[in-house]
Amino acid sequence: MKRTKIKSALSNKVIGQEICLKGWVRTRRGSKNVSFIALNDGSTINNIQVVAEGESFNEDVLKKITTGVAISVIGILVESKGGGQNVEVLAAAIEVLGEADADEYPLQPKKHSLDFLREKAHLRFRTNTFSAVFRLRHALTFAVHKFFNDKGFSNIHTPIITGADAEGAGEMFQITNLNLENIPKTDGKVDYTKDFFGSKTNLTVSGQLEAELAAMALGQVYTFGPTFRAENSNTSRHLSEFWMIEPEIAFADLDENMDLAEEFLKYCIQYCITNCADDLRFLDGRLENEEKNMKKEERSEMGLLEKLQFVIENDFVRLTYREAIDILRNSKPNKKKKFNYIIEGFGSDLQSEHERYLVEKKFKKPVIITDYPKGIKAFYMKQNEDGETVRAMDILFPQIGEIIGGSQREENLDKLVARMEEMEVDKDELWWYLETRKFGTCTHSGFGLGFERLIMFVTGMKNIRDVIPFPRTPQNADF
Ligand code: 4AD
Ligand code: MG
Repeated sequence: MKRTKIKSALSNKVIGQEICLKGWVRTRRGSKNVSFIALNDGSTINNIQVVAEGESFNEDVLKKITTGVAISVIGILVESKGGGQNVEVLAAAIEVLGEADADEYPLQPKKHSLDFLREKAHLRFRTNTFSAVFRLRHALTFAVHKFFNDKGFSNIHTPIITGADAEGAGEMFQITNLNLENIPKTDGKVDYTKDFFGSKTNLTVSGQLEAELAAMALGQVYTFGPTFRAENSNTSRHLSEFWMIEPEIAFADLDENMDLAEEFLKYCIQYCITNCADDLRFLDGRLENEEKNMKKEERSEMGLLEKLQFVIENDFVRLTYREAIDILRNSKPNKKKKFNYIIEGFGSDLQSEHERYLVEKKFKKPVIITDYPKGIKAFYMKQNEDGETVRAMDILFPQIGEIIGGSQREENLDKLVARMEEMEVDKDELWWYLETRKFGTCTHSGFGLGFERLIMFVTGMKNIRDVIPFPRTPQNADF
């Protein structure tokens, strides 16, 4: 008999039909004569209730049906007598496919902490919270591709192994197959000609530089791949391995870049609201529950669904870095020295406390900050006339902080080379990048969205480790 997915059994409600379900038991309760099994197969957050009644069910089989067990059920779909569900399955036969010894199985039918579940990352998919998060992660992946495909962008697969440090921050994981016990050296220096690729290589921190090359012919491209950063920041918003989406658009200036980014974020959020209502409703309730025990000032001002709707319906605030610094310098927390980093004036880098002040206290909306000082941004950004700032833009979200970083690119060869020299970026290594400015250069722009930060925002999860299946962070690469 062909298996019916629980999602389809619950929504199509073909009463009286015999169906076969397969899934994992969430709970079983009941008495000697009747058992109620909550069954889930991952197709939806909702469980279906399986009723096993009468003597046809061997007690030894029923005893094995505990949380986590995989079973197959054949039965009739009927209207439910109990509250809480519309339909249930009156079982005619149940087969245990895979046992899960209740004394050993780590997940019990009770609330587990997210910390505990992080240590059980191989099993946490089986909880309501994580199944919802990872269905949403999939929906967002699909929304990203759909958004760009519908606009005529081409998806480009940029290399994971590269010699370039696109961001110039030097936070790279080196790739080598040299024998670390016996490193070949010439004049005291490592001889990389003996290494696998014949040169020094690392895992990519960004696909942008390669995406720019493709944009100079295909017009509009985007990357969607893993990126790696060896920065030692153990925060709730940083991963050592994360996924990034980087569109790059020829002939677009910073304003068009910001318009695209805002439209893109709203599209992705709307896609989830339209297609993942059950999961979002569950996560909305979860967040409300989680925050019940928190102090009032620590709670979110809006529920999850309300917050998503709010972001879709409102224009993002756009202001320059100079304007942002003025607001921050005159803000209460700055004057009262409540910030850990006091804003003195032009040149200060914005810390997460400042970003949160602007987004959550001052504007209460997503904020786009443009025209940062060149000293705190990467070498490739277009230099403004003032000689001090560059055409950068960061999009800041409530609770998340920076979700997107982007810029208009410096398309003038001489200015780009001069900036690289100032910042000591190796021109010889990036000869191919410079050739785009030599041959058919043009205005172009792009940005990078941290995929996990978007998932945090949409799901309301507060730790980035809980929105990627197997997080990689300093001192941790388990699973
Ligand atoms: O601001 P970033 O470093 O920008 C770039 O990499 C550019 N090449 C993008 C471009 O213009 N094409 O990173 C972009 C985004 C950040 O805004 C943030 O959301 C995310 O990537 N991000 C991280 N997410 C998780 N863990 C980390 N360690 C992250 N570092 C950056
Ligand atoms: Mg950034």
